[in-house]
Amino acid sequence: MSDFRNRTAVVTGGASGIGFALIEAFLEAGGNAVIADIEDAALDRALAALLEKGYPAERVIGVRTDVRKVEDLEDLAKQTVETFGAVHVLCNNAGVETGGSFGQIPAAAWQWVMDVNFFGVLNGCRVFLPYLEQQDSAHIVNTASVAAFASGTATMIPYCASKMAILGMSESLEIELRARNSPVSLSVLAPGPVKTNMTNAERNRPSDVPAAEEEARKSEIARLAKVTEEKGMEPSEVARQVLESIEQKNFFILTHPEMALQGVRTRLNWMETGKAPEPRTAGT
Ligand SMILES: NC(=O)c1ccc[n+]([C@@H]2O[C@H](COP(=O)([O-])OP(=O)(O)OC[C@H]3O[C@@H](n4cnc5c(N)ncnc54)[C@H](O)[C@@H]3O)[C@@H](O)[C@H]2O)c1
Repeated sequence: MSDFRNRTAVVTGGASGIGFALIEAFLEAGGNAVIADIEDAALDRALAALLEKGYPAERVIGVRTDVRKVEDLEDLAKQTVETFGAVHVLCNNAGVETGGSFGQIPAAAWQWVMDVNFFGVLNGCRVFLPYLEQQDSAHIVNTASVAAFASGTATMIPYCASKMAILGMSESLEIELRARNSPVSLSVLAPGPVKTNMTNAERNRPSDVPAAEEEARKSEIARLAKVTEEKGMEPSEVARQVLESIEQKNFFILTHPEMALQGVRTRLNWMETGKAPEPRTAGT
């Protein structure tokens, strides 16, 4: 896709961070944008901020969506097509994170992280693909993380597992789409540290998921928040890379390529030597 003008992009988790930057980038490029998010207040704030910046109200809508629910995504697709006539880009971007040392992570926490991060992305692909395939050219961006390439970060096992699941599903789906000459292409966005609200992801934790209160966990997240604040990439730069990659049909969107490649090299070394690596430090 070489021109976003009058094309319509849907972004899940679009009310904050990378998602919001994507919404703004699509609007800036002349497209229509649909903000899909579970947080009502953040949705309202996002819409108000965009209107204040001067983007036309008729080119952006917000739809409250919980990506864990297939029916919410079906409703999102219907509202998008009813409003803008078609959908050309889907960014499955919503994500959450909680964890701890393995034995301390409750089943409900695993369920939440896998439901949002993996099943949310899968639901988006399953529901939207038939709509996207009606276009001459369309694109899906699935947001994973460098954690999809690099395992072993202390207290983040569910997050790592969910992001690796996105990678496996997305690689296989893209291979299938190319094999049958589909008009839809797919990318995996694998960011390193980006300045967003992700280290406060537990704000959206369902009531059955206890807060992650282990000391080791709290210090890991505090450290990650500090690294991200000091060295994180701006969400607008991530969004710029995403739009460029959609235009160029790049499968891998690596905001911090060295971190992703180092993760793969570490695994290769483990496979070749049999020697397990040391734990990773998040954000490095
Ligand atoms: N920020 C980073 O350093 C970083 C690094 C790697 C990957 N990522 C990934 O980037 C994506 C975007 O996160 P971000 O960093 O912008 O964080 P963020 O917390 O600022 O934004 C995440 C958004 O997802 C929404 N959300 C949460 N649960 C949802 C649900 N069930 N349904 C719909 N929306 C839901 C939140 O309300 C929020 O608006 C995530 O998938 C995250 O894992 C972020």
